[in-house]
This record gives sequence, structure tokens and C-alpha cells, in this order.
Amino acid sequence: MSVFNIAVIKGDGIGPDIVNEALKVMDKISDKFGHKFNFTDVLMGGIAIDETGVPLPEETIKICKDSDAVLLGAIGGEKWDTLPGYLRPEAGLLGIRKALGLFANLRPAVISKSLIDSSPLKPEIIKGVDIMVVRELCGGIYFGERGRGVDSESGEAYAFDTEKYSSFEVNRIAKIALEIAQKRNKRLCSVDKANVLESSRFWRENVIDTAKAYKDVELSHMYVDNAAMQLVRYPSQFDVIVTSNMFGDILSDEASMICGSIGMLPSASLGEKGCGLYEPIHGSSPDIAGKNIANPIATILSCAMMLKYSFNLENEAQHIENAVDKVLAQGYRTVDIASKPQVDTEKIIGTVEMGDIITKNL
Ligand code: IPM
Ligand code: MG
Repeated sequence: MSVFNIAVIKGDGIGPDIVNEALKVMDKISDKFGHKFNFTDVLMGGIAIDETGVPLPEETIKICKDSDAVLLGAIGGEKWDTLPGYLRPEAGLLGIRKALGLFANLRPAVISKSLIDSSPLKPEIIKGVDIMVVRELCGGIYFGERGRGVDSESGEAYAFDTEKYSSFEVNRIAKIALEIAQKRNKRLCSVDKANVLESSRFWRENVIDTAKAYKDVELSHMYVDNAAMQLVRYPSQFDVIVTSNMFGDILSDEASMICGSIGMLPSASLGEKGCGLYEPIHGSSPDIAGKNIANPIATILSCAMMLKYSFNLENEAQHIENAVDKVLAQGYRTVDIASKPQVDTEKIIGTVEMGDIITKNL
């Protein structure tokens, strides 16, 4: 029997709602396939601020580092919005990504056949969309020098953030993206703003350099404004997209709407080796927390990614994906993926019921 230790960060808002459903799914997988998953709850985000005074307690870092993988719900909320940046819940998330060296964020945007009508885009536009966004996660403007000051001459207040990438950072994310492209349709589009930003020109040069060793992958480049437009105009042109931390944050939210709802998109954050972190790409939606309406599917699919990428359990991962597909095909919907206006073939259910039905279908 294989044993896996998983640190669980339920976090804030709907975090606990959706993670509880994902844990049900994992328990069923462990029963069915005879694996042992040991879950350890740890604090991060707003709840950690409330209970310990900091968004990322040392103990959390230690337990995550000692685990085989981390499952995360979501963090943040209005309650902590007025705290200084380094004390906000988001600082916890950025801190754990950095502490675990998770530089590669994989965000697949795949449209499920049953949800074609849930997307705000026309069916003929989104047909066949299967994109992997590879977002750099440990560098760029998220981690660059920042600050505030007052101009000594004019007396005007100012603030700044810095986008900075080393060739090491660009090359290692490009390499991951190229390797992923090799296993897919062998097309990689690197997204930047090289017509304006020096850091983007440098990004592009380094991606081109790294790609020389991957002759079988067709490499293209696109400015981020154009990419944002192309994602809604003709999304199926993309196979793998590689981009910086901030552009990837923005484009992956956009790509999620192709798939019907941001409540559907999972992600995997991986480092050079060791523990990976798995989380839905959406936020903590405090307004619907505890109301049994959040969509747990992105978190459940994040568990499938964990099984695949951290534990090498492809078959088990496929089982989860199939169960989700089946439930959607049967017409079960959380409210975010329901057709509007409502149609007779769909049954709107809550977070817990969605978790139960997916578990039953495993
Ligand atoms: C994401 C989120 C985070 C990010 C926030 C919560 C810090 O938007 O994972 O996409 O910007 O990376
Ligand atoms: Mg985001």
C-alpha cells in the first residue's frame, strides 16, 4: 500500500466548503485503490492571521515541506483588506509558493462537452478548446522590489512595483512548458509585452534560446493584449501558453470563462522537485461562504492533478475526471455552471451534493 502525506490548507471564505468535498473524493479514491492518504490541516491566509497574527506561520511551512503534496482551498477576504501588504492573506499564498520553490503553475483550460452552453462564448468558438497555461509563479512583479515614497522635488506621493526576470528563471519555466508541449500538440505560444517592456524582450530572447533544444515544438510569440483578444476570438488556436506571473494570473482567469465558470479550473504548482501545491484558480468568494452553493469541481480536479503530477497515479486521476464528466453529463450543476435561463435537463444542486454525487460516481 502506498502512503501519501498531504498538508491541507482550507483557508478562508468558501475554502473549507470546497476542500471538504475534495477530501470526500480523495477518501473514496483511497478506499477504491488501496492508497493511504494522511491529511494534516494547517493554517494559512486570513484564518492564520486571526489565530496566529501572521498569514503564513512557520509551522505551516514546515509541515508543507515535510508533505508529499499540499491541497489548498482559497484565501483572502474583505476582513483583511486593510492590512499592510506583507500581512495580508495573499502574502501567505505568495510566501508558501516561494518557500516550496513552486515556480511552475499549470492551469489547464479544457471545455467539458456538457458545459458548452454554460460558457458566455458561442459554442462554435469554444468547441475543442484544450489549453494549458504555464504561468511562472516565483518571480516577476509579484516578487520584485516595491515601495512608496514622496518625490523630493514635487512633493508628490508615488508607489512602484518591479518586473524583473533572470535568464535562469525564464529558462526553467520555458523548459517545463516545452516539455509539456512535447507531450501534447507540440505548439507553444510565449506571451509577453516585448513591444514595450525590456523584461519582456529579455523573456522572449531566453524562451527562443531554450526552445532550440526542442526542435519538435513549434514556438510562437504573442503580445499579451493580443493574447487576451485571441483567447475569446479563437481559443482553439492555443495548445500550451507560457507566460510571466502577472500575465498568467490574468490570462488564466480569462481562459476559465471559456470553460463555463472559474469554478471549474484546477491548478498544479510545481517546483524542481519535492512537494507540489494544488488549488483551484478561483478565489475565496466570502459572499457565498458557508451557503452550500460554491462549486467544488475545480478543487476536486486539483486533486486529480495531485494524483497525476505528485503521486504518479494517472489511472486514479482519470477516474476523478471521468466521474466529474459523468455527473455533468447527467445534468447536475452548481449554480455558477447552470444555464441561464434554467433548462429542464439540468438539476441545480449545492456544494455538498455535488461532492457526494461525484464521490458516488467514482
Ligand atoms: C491566483 C490568485 C492569486 C495570485 C492571489 C490570491 C494572490 O489570483 O492564484 O491566481 O494572484 O496569484
Ligand atoms: Mg488569479
